[in-house]
Amino acid sequence: MIGKLNHVAIVVPDLMAAAATYRDALGADVSEALDLPDHGVRTIFVNLPNTKIELLYPLGEDSPIAKFLEKNPSGGMHHVCYEVDDIIEARNHLTKEGARVLGDGEPKIGAHGKPVLFLHPKDFCGTLVELEQV
Ligand code: CO
Repeated sequence: MIGKLNHVAIVVPDLMAAAATYRDALGADVSEALDLPDHGVRTIFVNLPNTKIELLYPLGEDSPIAKFLEKNPSGGMHHVCYEVDDIIEARNHLTKEGARVLGDGEPKIGAHGKPVLFLHPKDFCGTLVELEQV
């Protein structure tokens, strides 16, 4: 059912320092910083040949990643995102398999303007999973 790895998201305590690490030490192509107020994050994309890394930093008062950064002050991997062809079909299959979809279970428009869902980390090897319809 799942297709390509769309991105891995990493929450960081200093966005510009993280971008410099990826650009200078790792020699990667990094984007400008982009504010996504609807998602409560400021992000920099690291474009790799086969996928993306999203560096995330909290934006605004009630950013959904503020608590994560509190618990992981030096940053850490936040989620992986897999592509699916049909997000409703994927959700129905997953709930039938006993997996928990976060929130009200309805897809939201994600950071790339496409429908996304998040799956409970306890059902997926301790990793928060995002599904994105492409
Ligand atoms: Co994501």
